[in-house]
Amino acid sequence: MEITKTHGEFIIDAQHEHPDASGELSSLFASIRLAAKIVHREINKAGLADITGAAGAENVQGEAQQKLDLYANDKFKAALEARGVVCGLASEEEEHLVSFDSARCQKGKYIVLMDPLDGSSNIDVNVSVGTIFSIYHRLTPVGTPAKEEDFLQPGNKQVAAGYIIYGSSTMLVYTTGQGVNGFTYDPSIGVFCLSNPDMRAPKTGTIYSVNEGNYVHFPEGIKKYIKYCQIEDKASNRPYTSRYIGSLVADFHRNLIKGGIYMYPTSTAYPNGKLRLLYECNPMAFLIEQAGGRAIAGPGIRIMDMVPTELHQRAPLYLGSSRMVDEVEARMVANPE
Ligand code: AHG
Ligand code: MN
Ligand code: MN
Repeated sequence: MEITKTHGEFIIDAQHEHPDASGELSSLFASIRLAAKIVHREINKAGLADITGAAGAENVQGEAQQKLDLYANDKFKAALEARGVVCGLASEEEEHLVSFDSARCQKGKYIVLMDPLDGSSNIDVNVSVGTIFSIYHRLTPVGTPAKEEDFLQPGNKQVAAGYIIYGSSTMLVYTTGQGVNGFTYDPSIGVFCLSNPDMRAPKTGTIYSVNEGNYVHFPEGIKKYIKYCQIEDKASNRPYTSRYIGSLVADFHRNLIKGGIYMYPTSTAYPNGKLRLLYECNPMAFLIEQAGGRAIAGPGIRIMDMVPTELHQRAPLYLGSSRMVDEVEARMVANPE
């Protein structure tokens, strides 16, 4: 079998275009690749080993932690600490930020925010899950411990963001602000290979993804938009198709490739939305914008311009093909709460 360009080779090519680059971001990506392979291996034998199911604890947001949530969190944390280019990490599964305290790590200029296992309630039923990551330059001086201000930066300051999807194949999809590229993992050689260069979100699509069970609790504009998706209009390919996996990574990945919109609105149960601004919304917003799409939290509210005040802050999320986000935004404007 012919091997396409590996992720390592892809990074070397990119470095040649930036001769001033120090190689630290490449090293950070090597950490992410390593942890992704370990998590891939564990997920692929999830039905055989005693690693599925609840760990018996809750995270700071009161959600039941799965054993694999903790496993993935530990593996990514260890891999990121090992190379000394990251000075700290914040994770959906950690109550407080984690400052890597060795003198070597304190010299690291990057911080990482992550959702180590997204869609983890799907793990017991063999449905795709993922890891989401978001990378920033630290604001505090190099050589000192990482502090909260390093982590509470708006998404428009992201240096890189991406996800790993553990699906029918495992893929790494990310951006460093120059488009989006996808790499498929070949387990026979243990390497991620470039499979989806320059991924572009179709301008419009025919898929809408939302937990429709919450319909009665949604704002009026969202109810109107869902009805619009369902009303027949051959000229605009409606009714649209409804697809909702319940793993943001998997729903996002499909809609990025096929064209569509993903929504997690405010509701009575989640007055600020459910998804986490720093671990889920910002990285996905950076990706979709880099692919030509849009991500908003409400009318005129660009996700990446929101200024976070808390690590585990939630935000409503509407993202995907730009024309579909325009359509839902117009209905929110016409039906203010
Ligand atoms: P996590 O497993 O990291 O807690 O994330 C779950 C998120 C997201 O992946 C998914 O789209 C959403 O929660 C599903 O929520 P509902 O079950 O409320 O639809
Ligand atoms: Mn998640
Ligand atoms: Mn998670």
